[in-house]
Amino acid sequence: MQRTVKIEASLACANFKNLERDIKQLEEAKIDCFHFDIMDGNFVPNFALDFTILGAVRELSCTDVVCHLMIEEPERYIERAAAFRPAFISIHLEATRNAQRALQQIRNSGVRPGVVLNPATPVSALQYILDDIDLITVMTVNPGFAGQVLIPATIRKLADIRKLIDAEGCSHIELEVDGNVSFQNIPTMIKSGATMLVGGTSSVFCKQYSIGEAVAIVRSLVESNAVQ
Ligand code: DX5
Ligand code: ZN
Repeated sequence: MQRTVKIEASLACANFKNLERDIKQLEEAKIDCFHFDIMDGNFVPNFALDFTILGAVRELSCTDVVCHLMIEEPERYIERAAAFRPAFISIHLEATRNAQRALQQIRNSGVRPGVVLNPATPVSALQYILDDIDLITVMTVNPGFAGQVLIPATIRKLADIRKLIDAEGCSHIELEVDGNVSFQNIPTMIKSGATMLVGGTSSVFCKQYSIGEAVAIVRSLVESNAVQ
């Protein structure tokens, strides 16, 4: 069976002078999911998006949301994030002292739990929490800013995690890739096992194309690089 690859739009890269228009265009382009980065200016050296904007997005659209918490001690905000009924809430392994407890907290709130790995975090960190997660995100840049260049070793990590997921028979776990998901990098990312692509300034929101055109290009890359 062919592996399904979903296309996400990273809303931190949207045009905030006209967020509603961007959301409508993403819906018309049949985007699979919105990727929603919440940054705290502490875990990452930047701020982006918050619960007020998440509320507005949920009022504007029924499209699924992945809520990526780039914040220290994410357990403090899981309840608030879960109230917006995202499809997934993901937390950074580097941001919590007890990832397993935080993941259970997400699961108990009725939302699918995800973990995110910064570029330096090893695959082995996943070994004993596979039962607790439905989503693994490989950061291919250091989190915090759009427009960065992919760190090559993270592609090896993506492939290693794909092997782990397959070896453990965890086909329900999605493998997301976040950072510099460009038209050039997408084929390698799919071949290395990604099932969810976070499109930011280097694809879905790139300057050269409209949102509709950019999503169509990503979709054609997904189709032409499909993995059995
Ligand atoms: C990670 C970024 C990404 C986003 C950036 O911190 O916020 O969510 O995907 O997209 P690019 O790397 O394409 O500008
Ligand atoms: Zn993200």
